[in-house]
Amino acid sequence: MHSTGVFISFEGIDGAGKSSHIQAVADAFRAAGRTVVQTREPGGTPLAEKIRDMVLHDTMDTLSEALLVFAARRDHLNQVIEPALARGDVVLCDRFTDATFAYQGRGRGFDWQVLSQLELWVQSMPNGQLRQPHMTLWFALDPQIAAQRLASARVPDRFESQPLTFFQQVHQGYADRASADPKRFAHIQAADELEVVRASVLHQLQSRGYLPAHRA
Ligand code: TYD
Repeated sequence: MHSTGVFISFEGIDGAGKSSHIQAVADAFRAAGRTVVQTREPGGTPLAEKIRDMVLHDTMDTLSEALLVFAARRDHLNQVIEPALARGDVVLCDRFTDATFAYQGRGRGFDWQVLSQLELWVQSMPNGQLRQPHMTLWFALDPQIAAQRLASARVPDRFESQPLTFFQQVHQGYADRASADPKRFAHIQAADELEVVRASVLHQLQSRGYLPAHRA
């Protein structure tokens, strides 16, 4: 079992249902005796939550959007994620940088190389390595089904109000990130029943040694 810090991100297009599984994962880690920090992006600190509010509701161009989500991420890493990992906690983050590549990169069509440069600047650690989640749970769902799930859900923000083609591109963005780093990504079939998805999430965490196997 891992006794050092563990960083797990949860990704997927809006409507894929990832948020409902984060709590179950947190409960499973706590039952295994781990201290869990549940957080989200954009957000997770007072400054980053202010930035979240702007990014989700204020009109801006995509470079501004990208710079803002990375500024929020920098603060979040410095104030919350790195200290938690240094303590040996489990960090469960509702979205991280893959969302920037998917939404700003593929969804908005923003320059992938510029995003890679920002990722390098923001996530480089003092030892020269790039901070990334140890594992990314990608809740993959047909954008058409996700749109149906979202339709009745809530007042849409700047992303949720985008057309289907936007989410098809975002989905492709996640697929591109997953194929560039297949070891980090765990592909979750989010179209299945809630209980089946939950079992699959826990199984993925167990098979990578992050959770003890008897908690199936
Ligand atoms: P989301 O995580 O879906 O939260 P909620 O469930 O409260 O709606 O909302 C965050 C939105 O921000 C989502 O539509 C994706 C978008 N986003 C980006 O565009 N870029 C990013 O880098 C991140 C982290 C999120």
